[in-house]
Amino acid sequence: MRVFGSDRWDARRERGPRSRAHKFLTRAGLVVFVLLAIPTAAAALLWSRAETSNVGQLEFERKLAIPPLLEPTEDEAGTKVFDLEMSEGTSELLVGEATHTWGFNGPYLGPTLRASRGDRVRMRVSNALPETSTVHWHGMHLPAAADGGPHQTIEPGKTWSPSWTIDQPAASLWYHPHMMGETEEHVYRGLAGVFILDDPRSDELELPREYGVDDIPLIVQDKRFEEDGELSDSQGLISPIGQLGDQILVNGTSDPYLTISTTRVRLRLLNGSSARSYDFGFADDREFDLIATDGGLLEAPEPMDRIQLSPGERAEIVVEVEPGEEVVLRSFEPDLGAVDFFNARFVGADDSFDILELRAEDELEESPPVPTVLTPQEAPDASEAQGVRRFELGSRDINDVEMDMSRVDQTVPVDTTEIWEIENRAGIPHNFHVHDTRFEVLEYAGEPPEAALGGLKDTVLIPPGETVRIVVRFSGYTDPSTPYMFHCHLLEHEDRGMMGQFVVVEPGEDAEEPTAHGEPGHNHAEDH
Ligand code: C2O
Ligand code: CU
Ligand code: CU
Repeated sequence: MRVFGSDRWDARRERGPRSRAHKFLTRAGLVVFVLLAIPTAAAALLWSRAETSNVGQLEFERKLAIPPLLEPTEDEAGTKVFDLEMSEGTSELLVGEATHTWGFNGPYLGPTLRASRGDRVRMRVSNALPETSTVHWHGMHLPAAADGGPHQTIEPGKTWSPSWTIDQPAASLWYHPHMMGETEEHVYRGLAGVFILDDPRSDELELPREYGVDDIPLIVQDKRFEEDGELSDSQGLISPIGQLGDQILVNGTSDPYLTISTTRVRLRLLNGSSARSYDFGFADDREFDLIATDGGLLEAPEPMDRIQLSPGERAEIVVEVEPGEEVVLRSFEPDLGAVDFFNARFVGADDSFDILELRAEDELEESPPVPTVLTPQEAPDASEAQGVRRFELGSRDINDVEMDMSRVDQTVPVDTTEIWEIENRAGIPHNFHVHDTRFEVLEYAGEPPEAALGGLKDTVLIPPGETVRIVVRFSGYTDPSTPYMFHCHLLEHEDRGMMGQFVVVEPGEDAEEPTAHGEPGHNHAEDH
């Protein structure tokens, strides 16, 4: 409400001692009235305008862009080497408009990376931006020094080459910058990409898996544009969660359609937005199968007609189409919990969007039915939990403190199972993301988790006033001086300090003060 600051100041100055008592009181009353009425009227106006929907308004005129698969090279040791370069560029995000954007190996977003369980990978990330950044592998189990959090900075002109062995089930992960205080801006400008992991089980399952044909990544992001076509980075006057855009891009394409040539298609949905949550479904309410969440494939497909994703979350769904039909993937009003009536509108709870039109060809190749059994879950066992850690989310803090890169907030012994209890004490939605691991939701707002939260996760929405209990295990890598992060993945909250650091240590080992550039992590797994 900065715009009203000057009115308030002038009004207060007029309230001088020269006024007589009754005049003073009248004036004071008027001042109070004006002070209350103007902002209230303005807030009401903003409130009425804040509801955003494009439902029924899109033409679906542009072919959905599919991020190219990045072919790795192989070094003598058999390591798969992926080359990524962050740079500035210009993109036509809106038809006929040039927008300055950032991307990996191109002007916007990045290529899709793909690797299999057991692969040794090396990422060579060079920075051709005018600013320091980092690249984090969201959802990846890896040494802390390879994690790409705020400590692993890459200065302009420099290259960072972390390496690790993929050791987790098939899943749809993603990568994005994690620069302290700058994550929102760097991701919003376009730095994000999908990282697909395969494993022997996923290779043999009869699921749609031909990339770009019947297996399609969908990076969903909301944007706001200035008149001149540039991305707007104003924070929004009232929003308690950061800016919410009024335009939706999928893989950087506005107004997109996707041609389908098979009877079933697998959509890998990634909410790559800064603050907006989506409740995905189809315009005709058709059912689809949820087959995977953040951490990978479920035990069995779950039929449903909505899947809600908060920022950072992923879901893989398989949907069936009839020859020649068109159906719209839509985001319905998300359920963000008990946000008060006023704030609900400013956190996007009243918003809905058409996202993408699926257009089936007149002749479709028959896809096999979705297997009834997917994959056994490698879940931590809650009965082995050795303790409970509590996290209390405030409006901008966790456990009453804001992020401090030199402070380790939690020290976790390796190879132990723990319960983490996360309570949202603010009146606005937050979510909670933990690096390096996948967790299982034990209890969600006092209830057992719904099917959509039944698999392994790395990010989960924490509704206002509610508590979510998860069971989590950190295995393999220890490093007492290089922390991993836990944080709210609403990026403005993360940037403003809603983040904490944990180190994974050998039993009995103490945390050390984090070093700016962590030495390569000590690989506990390779010692045994
Ligand atoms: Cu997707 Cu710590 O981030
Ligand atoms: Cu992450
Ligand atoms: Cu938050």
